[in-house]
Amino acid sequence: MSLLAVEGVTAAFGGHTALDRVSLGVEAGAVTGLIGPNGAGKTTLLNVVTGMMALRAGTVRLAGADITSFTTHQRARAGLARTFQRLELFGSLTVRENVRVAADIRNRWTWRRRGRRNADAEADRAIEMLGLAGVADQPAGVIPTGRARLVELARALMIRPRALLLDEPAAGQDDADTDAFVEVLAALAAEGMAVLLVEHDMGLVMRACHRIHVLDLGVLIASGSPVEVQRDPAVLSAYLGPGAAG
Ligand SMILES: Nc1ncnc2c1ncn2[C@@H]1O[C@H](COP(=O)(O)OP(=O)(O)OP(=O)(O)O)[C@@H](O)[C@H]1O
Ligand SMILES: [Mg+2]
Repeated sequence: MSLLAVEGVTAAFGGHTALDRVSLGVEAGAVTGLIGPNGAGKTTLLNVVTGMMALRAGTVRLAGADITSFTTHQRARAGLARTFQRLELFGSLTVRENVRVAADIRNRWTWRRRGRRNADAEADRAIEMLGLAGVADQPAGVIPTGRARLVELARALMIRPRALLLDEPAAGQDDADTDAFVEVLAALAAEGMAVLLVEHDMGLVMRACHRIHVLDLGVLIASGSPVEVQRDPAVLSAYLGPGAAG
């Protein structure tokens, strides 16, 4: 059973169908890719899964439980975290403060004392893991975009998610950053997390992902291993135009 399951999901902006009966799974302990050309519906899928956009039909399940009617906050408490394609940081707070704020909020959810942890220590551990120690005391608004995306990831980790949804987290990273990022994703999966990676950098996707789902114009056109997906005629056609697969 997939930790996160999207079943027959349809979503629309007015008369424009952005997702058309999409079904896909995201496994615990693995990195799953979600790719597709611009406008394919990738961000819309993350919005529907996190409850930021209403669906017209279908079901979203987390660990088997139907969370379709949950609010965004209920989903976060159930263990869903995400990062955004457009950065959503507090620009005037330092990197460390941005991460600590998220840890503090999480701690407020934890009613029983036993479950509470030292938010500051936890924030510092994530900062270290993501290679942000060198910029921890700088305002988040002044660090390069590639780094700022990692700050978003550190914040998302503060809720100790079971499923982590990343919308183009590597945009703005250089090659050395990307290598380190592949290792970070592998480490999160090794901790048992279900990671869903939306990304246009195909080199990164192919290296990082165990399995990949491909959307085109709101329709799921392929699911498989990196090798299977790369060879799939429907995928080649979606990216390169009809006839490209021939
Ligand atoms: N707020 C909106 N209002 C109307 N249409 C929208 C809105 N947001 C997205 N769309 C449309 O929905 C479709 C899916 O968009 P979405 O942002 O999910 O694509 P995407 O796969 O994330 O693309 P990209 O790779 O460019 O980020 C597109 O046709 C887009 O134009
Ligand atoms: Mg998008």
